[in-house]
Amino acid sequence: MAISFEGKVCVITGAGNGLGKSHALALASRGAKVVVNDLGGARDGTGASSEAADAVVDEIHKLGGEAFAHGANVTNFDEVQAMIDQTMKKWGRVDVLINNAGILRDKSFSKMELDDFKLVIDVHLMGSVNCTKAVWEIMKEQNYGRIVMTTSSSGLYGNFGQTNYGAAKMGLIGLMNTLVLEGGKYNIHVNALSPTANTRMTEDLIPPPMLELMTAESVTAGALVLCHEKSPNRTILCCGAGGYAKATIYETDGIFVSKDEQSPEMVIDNWEELVNPENQKALDSGGKQTEKFLMKAMAALQK
Ligand code: NAI
Repeated sequence: MAISFEGKVCVITGAGNGLGKSHALALASRGAKVVVNDLGGARDGTGASSEAADAVVDEIHKLGGEAFAHGANVTNFDEVQAMIDQTMKKWGRVDVLINNAGILRDKSFSKMELDDFKLVIDVHLMGSVNCTKAVWEIMKEQNYGRIVMTTSSSGLYGNFGQTNYGAAKMGLIGLMNTLVLEGGKYNIHVNALSPTANTRMTEDLIPPPMLELMTAESVTAGALVLCHEKSPNRTILCCGAGGYAKATIYETDGIFVSKDEQSPEMVIDNWEELVNPENQKALDSGGKQTEKFLMKAMAALQK
């Protein structure tokens, strides 16, 4: 099945470089009209320039595609709103939003300044919130929308020196989980991409021979699956160096302990059973956890 984005309007944040650029070029080559957003700063978020985004737009135009550049800083809702207003004026809809813009301010937690922590949360998490907020009502009215959050293995599993980045990236999974519930009846799908690729973000972290395998295009192949018409919903797709996998949060079935036995000692005594992965499930809403525990408690009461 060939995947087409013919006529679809796609907004990609941080599309002047790296993964965003690769997503933008791939979407445009498959017929999408593309908003190439980029603040154009350095890897740590300092500075701003329209150069990178303009170059991507030029490349798309040369290939016969449609695109415009916008320098909105995703942390600034008014700028994001102006970008979406311009998109609506030009093309009248927004089908796809890929929240991709990002920066790094790595330091061990002991040495981390709180301002660096807050800025990273602001760009990755609030930046994605701002962009999603600006397109949400449009997508609801269209009864169509595809949103991709760019998460990271640093958030899903941890990475030394990235408490700020990891917290922001895992926050995006929380954002996705509830947007999926609220957007379902409007045909809005929300998924998350967990990439690993050779970009300026990773160029000094991974040795060169391996970097060559980690192309942005290998990640983009997965990104497009998350935002096309028949996309999955609520999927964390991990992509890198040609590898593709799905990450899922499971909860063990757990144990039930009656009222008069509920003590830390009892929990510890039953630990092996509590952590037993047999019958573990991926829950599709927070309420399912409450439901599971109450079912166990009710069943015990009826014995
Ligand atoms: P990159 O540094 O090449 O590209 C990020 C782009 O975002 C830059 O062009 C930058 O100007 C833009 N940007 C930064 N702050 C912005 C703001 N406030 N408003 C608008 N644009 C802004 O990095 P890369 O690797 O392409 O990263 C893309 C996304 O993928 C990021 O969210 C990153 O955290 C994520 N990621 C990347 C991984 C990798 O292996 N490269 C691993 C895991 C996640």
